[in-house]
Amino acid sequence: MNKFITFEGVDGAGKSTHLAWFSDVLRQRGLDVVVTREPGGTKLGEQLRTILLNQAMTIGTEAMLMFAARLEHIEQVIKPALRAGKWVISDRFSDASFAYQGGGRGLDWAKLTQLEQWVHADLQPDLTLFFDVPVEVARQRLANNVTLDRFEQEQSDFFERVRAAYLKRVQQNPQRYVVIDAAESLEQVQQQLAKILATL
Ligand code: TYD
Repeated sequence: MNKFITFEGVDGAGKSTHLAWFSDVLRQRGLDVVVTREPGGTKLGEQLRTILLNQAMTIGTEAMLMFAARLEHIEQVIKPALRAGKWVISDRFSDASFAYQGGGRGLDWAKLTQLEQWVHADLQPDLTLFFDVPVEVARQRLANNVTLDRFEQEQSDFFERVRAAYLKRVQQNPQRYVVIDAAESLEQVQQQLAKILATL
């Protein structure tokens, strides 16, 4: 049965690299895999992404634009692909809104829950991989990047709150998540992923 899988983590956790490897393994099995990302994934969503990553705005606006991009993404990309029997792997989904806008920026959790109910009451990922890494390690990895977006420019305390909010989401709904120790080497993380792939 095809699945909807999301990848989450603080910036610098390495999830995008692992996502590419994970999707390749599924494709090598002959599966039809759609790889996508948030914010983004549609033409409008990518335009919203450019705004969200570069333009300062009120917290509520930031949250609503994230969910606006998500609604497009769900209706135009995720649901049609799932209906067609394809696997969908998304680099971030609503957990990121709870973590960044809720944890990082301090937006009321209940407001995010309302947006989530509005935008996708009938859809949740089958599986979410949370790439967990100490914030210092993530910060060191990001230090190699030439340009940093509006979120990546935040300080360590922001990312501590983001990480704590992710872990709160994991605790609230443990059956949906696998927590990956992303502080390990690339090969060791791939071994963790291989174990998960063996169950799919
Ligand atoms: P990401 O794709 O990880 O950036 P990169 O291309 O640098 O790997 O994510 C973009 C940023 O958007 C990231 O800092 C987290 C943020 N974000 C939110 O704040 N809320 C959300 O709901 C989503 C999906 C992302």
